[in-house]
Amino acid sequence: MKKIRKAVFPVAGMGTRFLPATKASPKEMLPIVDKPIIQYAVEEAIAAGITDMVFVTGRSKRAIEDHFDKAYELESELEARGKTQMLEFVRNLIPKHINCIYIRQAEALGLGHAVLCAKPVIGDEPFAVLLADDLLDGDTAVIKQMSDTYDYYRCSVLGVQDVPREDTKSYGIVAARRVAERVEQVSAMVEKPKPEEAPSTLAVVGRYILTPRIFHHLEQLRPGAGGEIQLTDGIASLLSEEQVLAYRYEGTRYDCGSKLGYLKAMVTFGCRHPEVGDEFSAYLKSLEA
Ligand code: G1P
Repeated sequence: MKKIRKAVFPVAGMGTRFLPATKASPKEMLPIVDKPIIQYAVEEAIAAGITDMVFVTGRSKRAIEDHFDKAYELESELEARGKTQMLEFVRNLIPKHINCIYIRQAEALGLGHAVLCAKPVIGDEPFAVLLADDLLDGDTAVIKQMSDTYDYYRCSVLGVQDVPREDTKSYGIVAARRVAERVEQVSAMVEKPKPEEAPSTLAVVGRYILTPRIFHHLEQLRPGAGGEIQLTDGIASLLSEEQVLAYRYEGTRYDCGSKLGYLKAMVTFGCRHPEVGDEFSAYLKSLEA
Protein backbone atom coordinates (compact mmCIF):
# COMPACT_ATOMS: atom_id res chain seq x y z
CA MET A 1 0.00 0.00 0.00
CA LYS A 2 1.53 3.28 -1.08
CA LYS A 3 1.41 6.14 1.42
CA ILE A 4 1.57 9.78 0.41
CA ARG A 5 5.26 10.65 0.92
CA LYS A 6 5.82 13.43 -1.58
CA ALA A 7 4.33 16.88 -2.02
CA VAL A 8 4.64 19.28 -4.94
CA PHE A 9 4.66 23.02 -4.32
CA PRO A 10 4.25 24.98 -7.54
CA VAL A 11 6.00 28.25 -6.70
CA ALA A 12 7.01 29.65 -10.06
CA GLY A 13 4.16 32.20 -10.29
CA MET A 14 4.94 35.91 -10.57
CA GLY A 15 2.79 37.34 -7.79
CA THR A 16 1.76 40.42 -9.75
CA ARG A 17 -1.09 41.15 -7.31
CA PHE A 18 1.45 42.05 -4.66
CA LEU A 19 3.66 44.36 -6.67
CA PRO A 20 5.83 46.20 -5.84
CA ALA A 21 6.45 43.91 -2.81
CA THR A 22 7.06 40.96 -5.14
CA LYS A 23 9.24 42.74 -7.67
CA ALA A 24 12.48 41.23 -6.36
CA SER A 25 11.29 38.59 -3.90
CA PRO A 26 8.89 35.67 -4.22
CA LYS A 27 5.27 36.10 -3.12
CA GLU A 28 5.59 32.82 -1.21
CA MET A 29 8.11 34.53 1.07
CA LEU A 30 5.66 37.23 2.20
CA PRO A 31 5.29 36.72 5.94
CA ILE A 32 2.18 36.09 7.98
CA VAL A 33 3.50 37.81 11.12
CA ASP A 34 6.98 36.21 11.17
CA LYS A 35 6.68 33.11 9.04
CA PRO A 36 6.65 33.06 5.23
CA ILE A 37 3.50 31.75 3.51
CA ILE A 38 5.39 28.81 1.96
CA GLN A 39 6.44 27.58 5.40
CA TYR A 40 2.80 27.19 6.48
CA ALA A 41 2.22 24.91 3.49
CA VAL A 42 5.38 22.89 4.19
CA GLU A 43 4.40 22.47 7.86
CA GLU A 44 0.96 21.29 6.75
CA ALA A 45 2.62 18.63 4.58
CA ILE A 46 4.94 17.59 7.41
CA ALA A 47 1.88 17.17 9.67
CA ALA A 48 0.54 14.67 7.13
CA GLY A 49 3.71 12.55 7.35
CA ILE A 50 5.05 13.78 3.99
CA THR A 51 8.86 13.69 3.85
CA ASP A 52 9.80 14.84 0.33
CA MET A 53 9.01 18.44 -0.55
CA VAL A 54 9.30 19.11 -4.28
CA PHE A 55 9.33 22.80 -5.16
CA VAL A 56 8.71 23.72 -8.76
CA THR A 57 10.41 27.09 -8.91
CA GLY A 58 11.21 29.73 -11.49
CA ARG A 59 13.33 32.82 -11.93
CA SER A 60 13.85 35.05 -8.86
CA LYS A 61 12.74 32.34 -6.44
CA ARG A 62 16.14 31.65 -4.88
CA ALA A 63 14.94 33.01 -1.54
CA ILE A 64 12.72 29.94 -1.14
CA GLU A 65 15.71 27.60 -1.51
CA ASP A 66 17.76 29.70 0.88
CA HIS A 67 14.93 29.73 3.41
CA PHE A 68 14.90 25.94 3.79
CA ASP A 69 18.68 25.62 3.56
CA LYS A 70 21.35 25.92 6.23
CA ALA A 71 22.32 29.55 6.89
CA TYR A 72 25.97 29.34 8.00
CA GLU A 73 26.63 33.07 8.40
CA LEU A 74 23.41 33.77 10.24
CA GLU A 75 23.95 30.79 12.54
CA SER A 76 27.50 31.73 13.48
CA GLU A 77 26.43 35.34 14.03
CA LEU A 78 23.60 34.27 16.35
CA GLU A 79 25.95 31.86 18.14
CA ALA A 80 28.58 34.59 18.62
CA ARG A 81 25.93 36.88 20.10
CA GLY A 82 24.66 34.16 22.42
CA LYS A 83 21.16 34.25 20.91
CA THR A 84 20.61 30.56 21.54
CA GLN A 85 16.82 30.53 21.30
CA MET A 86 16.81 32.25 17.93
CA LEU A 87 19.64 29.96 16.80
CA GLU A 88 17.63 26.84 17.65
CA PHE A 89 14.68 28.34 15.82
CA VAL A 90 16.66 28.94 12.64
CA ARG A 91 18.39 25.54 12.84
CA ASN A 92 15.21 23.57 13.35
CA LEU A 93 13.03 25.26 10.78
CA ILE A 94 12.13 21.86 9.39
CA PRO A 95 12.91 18.40 10.87
CA LYS A 96 16.13 16.70 9.75
CA HIS A 97 14.37 13.83 7.96
CA ILE A 98 12.67 16.17 5.49
CA ASN A 99 14.11 16.37 1.96
CA CYS A 100 13.75 19.54 -0.08
CA ILE A 101 14.02 19.09 -3.83
CA TYR A 102 13.97 21.91 -6.39
CA ILE A 103 12.97 21.75 -10.02
CA ARG A 104 13.00 24.74 -12.34
CA GLN A 105 10.00 25.42 -14.52
CA ALA A 106 11.74 27.35 -17.28
CA GLU A 107 8.55 28.80 -18.78
CA ALA A 108 5.36 29.71 -16.92
CA LEU A 109 3.06 27.49 -18.99
CA GLY A 110 0.46 26.89 -16.30
CA LEU A 111 -0.27 24.91 -13.13
CA GLY A 112 -0.72 21.63 -15.01
CA HIS A 113 2.68 22.11 -16.63
CA ALA A 114 4.27 22.92 -13.25
CA VAL A 115 2.94 19.66 -11.79
CA LEU A 116 4.19 17.76 -14.86
CA CYS A 117 7.67 19.19 -14.23
CA ALA A 118 7.72 17.19 -10.97
CA LYS A 119 7.17 13.86 -12.75
CA PRO A 120 10.84 12.70 -12.69
CA VAL A 121 10.91 13.10 -8.90
CA ILE A 122 7.44 11.74 -8.13
CA GLY A 123 7.69 8.63 -10.31
CA ASP A 124 4.98 6.03 -9.94
CA GLU A 125 3.37 6.95 -6.66
CA PRO A 126 0.46 9.05 -5.42
CA PHE A 127 1.40 12.53 -4.27
CA ALA A 128 0.06 15.76 -2.85
CA VAL A 129 -0.05 19.21 -4.47
CA LEU A 130 -0.24 22.28 -2.24
CA LEU A 131 -0.75 25.80 -3.56
CA ALA A 132 0.78 27.92 -0.83
CA ASP A 133 -1.42 30.93 -1.71
CA ASP A 134 -4.28 29.08 -0.08
CA LEU A 135 -3.41 29.09 3.59
CA LEU A 136 -5.58 26.42 5.19
CA ASP A 137 -5.96 26.50 8.92
CA GLY A 138 -7.47 23.35 10.45
CA ASP A 139 -7.27 21.55 13.81
CA THR A 140 -6.07 18.62 11.71
CA ALA A 141 -3.85 19.68 8.80
CA VAL A 142 -6.08 19.75 5.72
CA ILE A 143 -3.67 17.72 3.56
CA LYS A 144 -3.64 15.11 6.38
CA GLN A 145 -7.45 14.95 6.27
CA MET A 146 -7.13 14.39 2.53
CA SER A 147 -4.35 11.80 2.66
CA ASP A 148 -6.46 9.87 5.22
CA THR A 149 -9.31 10.02 2.69
CA TYR A 150 -6.89 8.75 0.03
CA ASP A 151 -5.79 5.89 2.31
CA TYR A 152 -9.43 4.81 2.58
CA TYR A 153 -10.61 5.21 -1.03
CA ARG A 154 -7.27 4.84 -2.91
CA CYS A 155 -8.04 7.41 -5.58
CA SER A 156 -7.36 11.09 -6.32
CA VAL A 157 -8.90 13.53 -3.82
CA LEU A 158 -9.53 17.25 -4.38
CA GLY A 159 -9.95 19.69 -1.48
CA VAL A 160 -13.19 21.65 -2.03
CA GLN A 161 -15.49 24.22 -0.50
CA ASP A 162 -18.68 26.02 -1.52
CA VAL A 163 -18.19 29.53 -2.91
CA PRO A 164 -20.69 32.24 -3.87
CA ARG A 165 -21.89 31.67 -7.46
CA GLU A 166 -20.39 34.97 -8.66
CA ASP A 167 -16.94 33.65 -7.65
CA THR A 168 -16.90 30.49 -9.79
CA LYS A 169 -14.80 32.35 -12.37
CA SER A 170 -11.84 32.27 -9.97
CA TYR A 171 -11.76 28.51 -9.35
CA GLY A 172 -11.78 25.02 -10.72
CA ILE A 173 -15.42 23.92 -10.23
CA VAL A 174 -16.61 20.32 -9.90
CA ALA A 175 -19.90 18.58 -10.55
CA ALA A 176 -20.20 15.98 -7.80
CA ARG A 177 -22.54 13.59 -6.00
CA ARG A 178 -22.39 12.87 -2.26
CA VAL A 179 -21.01 9.46 -1.26
CA ALA A 180 -20.28 9.95 2.45
CA GLU A 181 -19.94 12.72 4.98
CA ARG A 182 -17.61 15.36 3.44
CA VAL A 183 -16.89 13.09 0.45
CA GLU A 184 -18.34 13.48 -3.05
CA GLN A 185 -17.72 11.67 -6.30
CA VAL A 186 -16.64 14.02 -9.07
CA SER A 187 -18.31 13.59 -12.48
CA ALA A 188 -16.95 16.70 -14.22
CA MET A 189 -14.51 19.53 -13.61
CA VAL A 190 -14.08 22.86 -15.34
CA GLU A 191 -11.58 25.67 -14.90
CA LYS A 192 -12.92 29.11 -13.99
CA PRO A 193 -16.42 28.89 -15.50
CA LYS A 194 -18.67 31.95 -15.73
CA PRO A 195 -21.29 31.90 -12.96
CA GLU A 196 -24.09 31.09 -15.41
CA GLU A 197 -22.13 28.17 -16.88
CA ALA A 198 -20.73 26.65 -13.67
CA PRO A 199 -21.94 23.07 -13.02
CA SER A 200 -22.12 23.83 -9.28
CA THR A 201 -20.61 26.17 -6.70
CA LEU A 202 -18.22 23.55 -5.32
CA ALA A 203 -14.75 25.02 -5.81
CA VAL A 204 -11.37 23.33 -5.68
CA VAL A 205 -9.01 25.00 -3.22
CA GLY A 206 -5.26 24.59 -3.60
CA ARG A 207 -5.01 21.06 -2.21
CA TYR A 208 -4.87 17.88 -4.26
CA ILE A 209 -3.94 14.24 -3.79
CA LEU A 210 -3.28 12.76 -7.20
CA THR A 211 -2.48 9.34 -8.54
CA PRO A 212 0.58 9.19 -10.84
CA ARG A 213 -1.73 8.51 -13.79
CA ILE A 214 -2.35 12.28 -13.86
CA PHE A 215 1.03 12.71 -15.62
CA HIS A 216 -0.16 10.74 -18.62
CA HIS A 217 -3.17 13.06 -18.93
CA LEU A 218 -1.16 16.23 -18.42
CA GLU A 219 1.22 15.16 -21.18
CA GLN A 220 -1.66 15.02 -23.70
CA LEU A 221 -3.08 18.45 -22.88
CA ARG A 222 -3.31 21.51 -25.06
CA PRO A 223 -3.46 24.97 -23.48
CA GLY A 224 -6.84 25.67 -21.84
CA ALA A 225 -8.25 28.66 -19.92
CA GLY A 226 -5.92 31.67 -20.13
CA GLY A 227 -3.78 29.86 -22.72
CA GLU A 228 -2.23 27.73 -19.95
CA ILE A 229 -1.82 23.99 -19.41
CA GLN A 230 -4.41 23.61 -16.65
CA LEU A 231 -4.26 21.03 -13.86
CA THR A 232 -8.07 21.12 -13.90
CA ASP A 233 -8.12 19.89 -17.52
CA GLY A 234 -5.72 17.08 -16.61
CA ILE A 235 -8.01 15.98 -13.77
CA ALA A 236 -11.08 16.25 -16.04
CA SER A 237 -9.30 13.90 -18.45
CA LEU A 238 -8.22 11.55 -15.62
CA LEU A 239 -11.93 11.15 -14.80
CA SER A 240 -12.37 9.12 -17.99
CA GLU A 241 -10.44 6.25 -16.45
CA GLU A 242 -10.23 6.71 -12.69
CA GLN A 243 -12.51 7.71 -9.85
CA VAL A 244 -11.82 11.18 -8.43
CA LEU A 245 -13.28 12.36 -5.13
CA ALA A 246 -13.95 15.83 -3.78
CA TYR A 247 -13.40 16.29 -0.06
CA ARG A 248 -15.03 19.13 1.90
CA TYR A 249 -12.15 19.94 4.23
CA GLU A 250 -12.59 21.01 7.85
CA GLY A 251 -10.90 24.32 8.51
CA THR A 252 -10.64 27.93 7.42
CA ARG A 253 -9.13 29.13 4.17
CA TYR A 254 -7.26 32.38 3.72
CA ASP A 255 -6.71 33.35 0.11
CA CYS A 256 -3.23 34.79 0.51
CA GLY A 257 -3.07 35.32 -3.24
CA SER A 258 -5.30 38.36 -2.66
CA LYS A 259 -4.55 41.40 -0.53
CA LEU A 260 -7.73 41.07 1.49
CA GLY A 261 -7.22 37.37 2.25
CA TYR A 262 -3.60 38.07 3.15
CA LEU A 263 -4.63 40.82 5.56
CA LYS A 264 -7.26 38.57 7.17
CA ALA A 265 -4.64 35.87 7.71
CA MET A 266 -2.27 38.41 9.18
CA VAL A 267 -4.89 39.65 11.66
CA THR A 268 -6.00 36.14 12.71
CA PHE A 269 -2.47 34.81 13.14
CA GLY A 270 -1.35 38.07 14.72
CA CYS A 271 -4.04 37.80 17.42
CA ARG A 272 -2.91 34.23 18.11
CA HIS A 273 0.81 34.90 18.16
CA PRO A 274 2.45 33.85 21.47
CA GLU A 275 4.64 36.94 21.62
CA VAL A 276 2.39 39.79 20.43
CA GLY A 277 -1.11 38.22 20.27
CA ASP A 278 -2.58 39.73 23.45
CA GLU A 279 -1.31 43.21 22.78
CA PHE A 280 -2.31 43.09 19.14
CA SER A 281 -5.85 41.93 20.04
CA ALA A 282 -6.12 44.76 22.56
CA TYR A 283 -4.94 47.20 19.90
CA LEU A 284 -7.62 45.99 17.45
CA LYS A 285 -10.25 46.38 20.19
CA SER A 286 -9.08 49.93 20.85
CA LEU A 287 -9.68 50.75 17.16
CA GLU A 288 -13.34 49.69 17.47
CA ALA A 289 -13.97 52.20 20.25
C1 G1P B 1 -5.68 27.57 -9.25
C2 G1P B 1 -6.39 26.46 -10.01
C3 G1P B 1 -7.90 26.47 -9.70
C4 G1P B 1 -8.10 26.41 -8.19
C5 G1P B 1 -7.34 27.56 -7.49
C6 G1P B 1 -7.42 27.43 -5.98
O1 G1P B 1 -6.08 28.81 -9.81
O2 G1P B 1 -6.17 26.59 -11.38
O3 G1P B 1 -8.53 25.38 -10.31
O4 G1P B 1 -9.49 26.48 -7.89
O5 G1P B 1 -5.96 27.54 -7.86
O6 G1P B 1 -6.83 28.51 -5.34
P1 G1P B 1 -5.28 30.20 -9.52
O7 G1P B 1 -5.81 30.71 -8.21
O8 G1P B 1 -3.83 29.85 -9.45
O9 G1P B 1 -5.63 31.09 -10.65
